[in-house]
Amino acid sequence: MGKEISLHNQTFSLYLDEQKIRERIIELARNINEDYQGKSPIILCILNGSFIFTADLVRHLDFPLTIEFVRYSSYEGTSTTGRITKIMGLKSDIEGKDVLIVEDIIDTGLTLSNAIKDLLKSNPASLKVASLLLKPSALIHDIHCNYIGFRIPDKFVIGYGLDYDELGRDLPEIYQLKDQA
Ligand code: IMP
Ligand code: MG
Repeated sequence: MGKEISLHNQTFSLYLDEQKIRERIIELARNINEDYQGKSPIILCILNGSFIFTADLVRHLDFPLTIEFVRYSSYEGTSTTGRITKIMGLKSDIEGKDVLIVEDIIDTGLTLSNAIKDLLKSNPASLKVASLLLKPSALIHDIHCNYIGFRIPDKFVIGYGLDYDELGRDLPEIYQLKDQA
């Protein structure tokens, strides 16, 4: 039996180990490095979930970059409201700048499609998206994701920045909810 972990009375089993995540991030970084040679983009970390992915990814990028953090929320309690609130915005002006959004996971794509709409108002020179995980249901919002780490089934995952009611972000691996229909 694989490694398991329990949080808030739910059981999760190991889905992506540290080595798999590390190797995939190096591959993603290689593609991003090719595309951004001669540029100096803003890496935009969407909090809270992508703090670990962003931290690991930027250490493999080989062009000059700046890092900014934004935070949106679509959740009130345990269910999504279908609306997005910006809790924490950008510090610098992105007009005329190349921007690379770094996300942990695209599920329905609601968060990201709203973030993109919001950011496009500031007229960046370019706007691309890197997401560590992508669930097939993301197609609901027709998101174009330029760099995708792993396409995963529509099951709840935690670890490596992703939480289950705020727990589990610190796990170095990614775990999948057991016995989810
Ligand atoms: P979306 O707006 O439906 O694409 O959902 C995006 C946000 O929901 C992500 O940034 C995560 O914070 C959260 N989320 C979606 N799926 C999962 C999951 O499987 N585990 C943990 N958080 C998730
Ligand atoms: Mg979350």
